[in-house]
This record gives sequence, C-alpha cells and structure tokens, in this order.
Amino acid sequence: MGISREATILVDGIAIPRLAFGLGSLMKWAPNHAYPLPTDSSKEVAQALKAGFGHINTGDIYTNNESAAESIKASGIARKDLFFSLKLNTYAALGCKGKDSMVESTKKEIDRFGLQGYVDLLQLHFPPRGHPGNLTNREAWRVLEELKDLKMARIIGLSNWTLKDYEDIMDAPDLKYKPQVNEYELNPFLLFDPALRDRHFYEMKQGIVHMNYGFLSVLSGKLPRDRAPALLKELELLSDETSLTEAELLLSWAYDCLHGIVISSSSREDRLVGLAKLFIGDDKVPLQRSIYDRIEKAAKEDGYEGKSFYKHGHMDAAATGK
Ligand SMILES: NC(=O)c1ccc[n+]([C@@H]2O[C@H](COP(=O)([O-])OP(=O)(O)OC[C@H]3O[C@@H](n4cnc5c(N)ncnc54)[C@H](OP(=O)(O)O)[C@@H]3O)[C@@H](O)[C@H]2O)c1
Repeated sequence: MGISREATILVDGIAIPRLAFGLGSLMKWAPNHAYPLPTDSSKEVAQALKAGFGHINTGDIYTNNESAAESIKASGIARKDLFFSLKLNTYAALGCKGKDSMVESTKKEIDRFGLQGYVDLLQLHFPPRGHPGNLTNREAWRVLEELKDLKMARIIGLSNWTLKDYEDIMDAPDLKYKPQVNEYELNPFLLFDPALRDRHFYEMKQGIVHMNYGFLSVLSGKLPRDRAPALLKELELLSDETSLTEAELLLSWAYDCLHGIVISSSSREDRLVGLAKLFIGDDKVPLQRSIYDRIEKAAKEDGYEGKSFYKHGHMDAAATGK
C-alpha cells in the first residue's frame, strides 16, 4: 500500500494524511427518512484501503461503521499506518446524552474499529450551542480536552464550527487545548464567500488546520448543474487538455491551492484508483497555476450564493429543537 508515501500535514508532530476517504458519502437514504438507513459499505471501504487510502473519516452517527470496521480489520493494515478521524454527535435529538454518552460513544468506536485504545483525530461533529438538552460549546469541547488527556485522542478538533462558535471556546478562561482542526464544506464557488474567507483567515492566525468536504457537489448532482455553467464548461475543456477527470481536476485544485486536508469518497474502484494514482503514490506534482486560475475564474463567474449543499437542516432542527 502507498500509505507511507502519502503527503501529510504535521499537527503537534503527528502526521495527518492530506487525502481522506469519507464514509458519510456511502450511506444510503430512503425517501422520507430523516436519517440514513443502516448501510453495508464493506466493499467500498475494502476498495479504498486497497487503493492506498490511509486516512478514514467517519462519525459516530454514520450508519455504515459496522461494515467499514469489518473491512478495516480484515485488511490487516497496521494501526500505525491508519489515520482514523472520528466525529462525535453532540445533539440530544440524535441520541447524545451529554458527557457520559460522548465518552461511551468514543470507546465504542475505538473498540469496534480495533483502534488499540485511541483515535488519531476526535472532533465535535456540530456545535451543540447549549440548545435545550444539548451541552454548550464549551462543555462539549471540555469533553474532548478530557479525552485527549486520557490519551483516547491524539488530536482534537471541530466540524462545522463558525467564527461565532469559536468565541465560546477560544475566549473561555479555562481553555486547556485549542482546537487543532475544523472540518467544513468548501468548493471553488465558496472560495469567494466573505464569511468563509473570514473564518479561514481566523483559522490561519490561530494555526487551526482546515479539513474540507463537498468539492464534487457540482458533479455528483448535489448542486444543480444549471447553476454552474461556467465552471462545468471550463472543467470539460480542462479535462480534454489534461486527460484528468473533472473530479480529479477539482480535487487537485483543492489539494494544491487550499493546502488543507481534502475529504472525498467514491463507491467506484476505478475512481479511487485514479485518485490514489494522482495523490497517494509519489509526491503529487501540482498542476500549472494557469489551470487553477481558469477554475477559479469560472467559479467566480458562476457566483458563490446558493453553492453550499450541506445546510444541515435536520441537524439545525435537532440542535434548536424546532
Ligand atoms: N462534517 C460534516 O458535517 C460532513 C458533511 C458531509 C460530508 N462529510 C465527510 O466528507 C466526506 C465527503 O463528502 P462529500 O460526499 O460531500 O464529498 P465529495 O467529494 O463532494 O463527493 C463524493 C461523491 O462524489 C461522487 N463522485 C466522485 N467522482 C465523481 C465524478 N467524476 N462524477 C460524479 N460524481 C462523482 C462519488 O460518488 P460515486 O460513489 O458514484 O463515485 C461520491 O459519492 C463524506 O464521506 C464524509 O465523511 C462530513
């Protein structure tokens, strides 16, 4: 496997592989269901590990962890060669009963995935914001600080945290550890969203690593194609010129231009092998800057408004109790 050659970002001396395979995209939904059905992703996870992905990203509320765990254990991959990131649910409406249940859930996933006592990166999936039944942001973060002290998490971080949410922990007088990572949606359109830029600038100043998903929303049908004519046309031209797929071009842009951690996923072996060839083997060679200029110019022309797919409506409802 190509894991040891995968480019990494160092956080406190711990190497985070820059390309992560996300389990969330593999979950199956049924009509009128508020949450995904139990899903068997064993084949897809086995494919990803075989292709060389060494960073697996999941959440305790994902419905395919059991099958993914079987594939990880069956792969025989050494614990030191696997980087495992786990997001913890913080919403009462989705089953979080506060500190004890967060600790319990972390232990359960560590055992289920055979992780020898620790996850590499532990995150709060969403800011709980102290809505009825939920912990406050500070209380939830304190649970992660404690789990880090117990050595159940090597790195601790956040997901979907906004600038306002950061205030609740960064300004806390008893803050013990700063968050080290924040995971959120990003794509070439959102690059021009001032709110996203402000958050990114803040994270750079604080030394918080960004880890992003949703780069392919315009290809996977999550965002309507007719809202992105300029980018789709440019990707088609660039794909002909470079012999890279449109998805490979978008993920290359993310990888080479944003310098964070890129999460993506596919159920298709051919796509995974293509990504592994591009990103995991020998050091990735950045594409010419002129290619990325064309991607960014087209995305700017299409505009950033309405270009976020993950509104997390059901999560917001869970958090607010509405
Ligand atoms: N923290 C959070 O709240 C949060 C939210 C969302 C996601 N995530 C994480 O981030 C991961 C990635 O999320 P994402 O699904 O938004 O990632 P993405 O990279 O935008 O999309 C991945 C999807 O794109 C499809 N795809 C790949 N290549 C394609 C191509 N050439 N043309 C059309 N479709 C293509 C794949 O489907 P095929 O199977 O057909 O290839 C896959 O389902 C998730 O698995 C999850 O772990 C976290």
